[in-house]
Amino acid sequence: MGSSDSIRMEKLCYSIGGRKILEDFDFVLERGVNRTILGVSGAGKTTILKLLLGLLEPDSGAVYINDLRITGLPEASFMQQRKRIAIVFQGGALFDSMTVGENVGYRLFEEGRLSQPEITDIVREKLSFVGVEAALNLYPAELSGGMKKRVAIARALAADPDYIFFDEPTTGLDPIGVYNICNLMQRLQAEGKTTLMVTHDLATAFATSQRFTFLHKARMLFEGSEEEMKASSIPEVHEFLQPTDDSLFV
Ligand SMILES: Nc1ncnc2c1ncn2[C@@H]1O[C@H](COP(=O)(O)OP(=O)(O)OP(=O)(O)O)[C@@H](O)[C@H]1O
Ligand SMILES: [Mg+2]
Repeated sequence: MGSSDSIRMEKLCYSIGGRKILEDFDFVLERGVNRTILGVSGAGKTTILKLLLGLLEPDSGAVYINDLRITGLPEASFMQQRKRIAIVFQGGALFDSMTVGENVGYRLFEEGRLSQPEITDIVREKLSFVGVEAALNLYPAELSGGMKKRVAIARALAADPDYIFFDEPTTGLDPIGVYNICNLMQRLQAEGKTTLMVTHDLATAFATSQRFTFLHKARMLFEGSEEEMKASSIPEVHEFLQPTDDSLFV
């Protein structure tokens, strides 16, 4: 893996309906360095992930996947690069009309490169990795919230990505569910996957990441390690870690 193995944003600006969501935002996710983006609800965390995937076009600035500048390119010309990234969407976004197995194998099936038995093998392996192989023939409606998240992770793993984005993977889960997700992320990291999570769940962030980016009012207010963040004298960072009655975030 060369120094170019990264996903980057350079001086990126993005607004929605005249409101600035990101302003001159510089960001790097290096291969092998697991990162969490923190920020209050509505700060723009999900938007960052969509921009990094090329699902949204910035107003100015650019996104690079490795050394390829994907901004302004037609989707077809960066598909090869994009395939190295998978995302586990906030809420899972499973297809309700498909079984768990069909959900997990969907992308491989669409690509049409593998035979059905080959796809089934991969689907079983990924479901077994996340511990829900028994759900193969169930429909999403028959699963608990924690199982849905795990199936969504299995689906993200099906195409064997290098980078996995997790959008609020622990929101709404009980402590055991949260533990399971942390454990899964750590196992993926041990296998060489690079994770990027966006969340406001600090415990999960600190359990799974080495570097932290704090997004506040369209800017990167902080970037650093857990120790640096906890020692930060930036009022908003301090307040985010230890909220008080006189919140800075209103
Ligand atoms: N399609 C859209 N149309 C209008 N406003 C939008 C749209 N998508 C996002 N927004 C607004 O942009 C801002 C950033 O949204 P985003 O979903 O990125 O926030 P977030 O940090 O992921 O929030 P949460 O923690 O609640 O998931 C929010 O204020 C949201 O209301
Ligand atoms: Mg979000």
